[in-house]
Amino acid sequence: MSNKGLKIVVIGGGSSYTPEFVEGLIKRKDELNTSELWLVDVEAGQSKLNTIGALAERMIVKAGAGIKVYTTLDREKALYGADYVNTQIRVGQIAARVLDEAIPLEHGLIGQETNGAGGLFKALRTVPVILDISEEMARLCPDAWMFNFSNPVGVVTEALCRYSKHKKFAGICNVPIGIERELAKMMDISPARLRVDFAGLNHMVYGFKVFVDELDVTASLFEQFLQNNTADMSSRNGYDYDWEREFIRALGLIPCSYHRYYYRASDMLAHAVEEFAKGGTRARKVESIEAELFKLYRDSELDIKPPQLEQRGGAYYSDAACNMIASIHNNKADIQTVDVVNNGAIADIDDQSAVEVSCKITRLGPMPAIMGRKLPVSVKGLVMQIKSFEQLAAQAAVTGDYHTGLLAMITNPLVANDIIGKKVYDRLLEAHRQYLPRFYPADSTSR
Ligand code: G6P
Repeated sequence: MSNKGLKIVVIGGGSSYTPEFVEGLIKRKDELNTSELWLVDVEAGQSKLNTIGALAERMIVKAGAGIKVYTTLDREKALYGADYVNTQIRVGQIAARVLDEAIPLEHGLIGQETNGAGGLFKALRTVPVILDISEEMARLCPDAWMFNFSNPVGVVTEALCRYSKHKKFAGICNVPIGIERELAKMMDISPARLRVDFAGLNHMVYGFKVFVDELDVTASLFEQFLQNNTADMSSRNGYDYDWEREFIRALGLIPCSYHRYYYRASDMLAHAVEEFAKGGTRARKVESIEAELFKLYRDSELDIKPPQLEQRGGAYYSDAACNMIASIHNNKADIQTVDVVNNGAIADIDDQSAVEVSCKITRLGPMPAIMGRKLPVSVKGLVMQIKSFEQLAAQAAVTGDYHTGLLAMITNPLVANDIIGKKVYDRLLEAHRQYLPRFYPADSTSR
């Protein structure tokens, strides 16, 4: 390995989450030796980018980490010669998320940015941009790894698996690492000692086994999990219900917080509708958390990541990101859970599709730790239905085909109504028109 320091690029660098990533790089300054951090954003994000760039510099100076920070709107310049690239974009900014959540709710459907109708439209806006970035990476930094955090990670990774020429990528989510943290808390041990063997899809992942110091403690832990029940496997951004204990006992797997949208659909919907009637969607809350965060970030005295950032659902994402970089860079061969091309890891799913599974992380990247796993019949149907949705959504995002998108919409179990589904689909298409050039090619040629 050369002595040249790493060039790390964050696309969507003006995100309120970026200080957490900077903190992650600082914590690992000795094992990573990062010399350049490039923060990239779009014109609409310029002012946030300036604020984040200045804060990142203050954090780095305080820590004596010796990383040079660059801020730019020129993505290609940033990508040239990069070693690792994080994509954490929100096409259309938070205003688009407000629509993704509000329009389905107006028609009595779940409005959520990673699944259902809202998730579909976030995918339709995001996938083409991520594929453009992957194409640029193939030209400008062919050896670099892309780690995508942009939601919906499941559909975006599906699109990368099927349509990207650049093959060094993985989707990363904080849900698996979050579950491990919560289980470790429940057992009162350090998270570093515990790992879960996960398999499934993004936001549809199940814990199959639990190991402490590499010993299989699944049976005893499962009992403790059932006793606690409330063992907070929750995200910060959803409404949490205790699980029905006997259901979890019967399932024999640890669910993730997003499973509540499927196993407790009516309560989740009723709660969302109630909140919406009071004027609230998660996007609105996020807007006010962001306003508070950026006010803090602009304070020239601030030189650490403020604890208020932990109110966001993606808290601790930087541990997931930086652990990946550190393990590839240092060939650690440890186990982490990421979204990768299946290639036989889950026998029931197409080889070319994306899956979220525990992987061994070496210099060659993530490799599923278990191959040929068969999903239990109790979860297989749901997982396969979501996989069909992801496949259709990725295909629609790439082709801009109206009917493929409509199929994705109506086959999603959180929509499951052809009349309402079509209405919501048409409204969302119109609402996001400016960010869907593949659906409206005539608009871009006339621009
Ligand atoms: C969770 C999910 C992420 C999602 C985040 C949203 O952590 O795993 O995929 O982006 O929540 O949090 P927010 O604060 O934006 O609602």
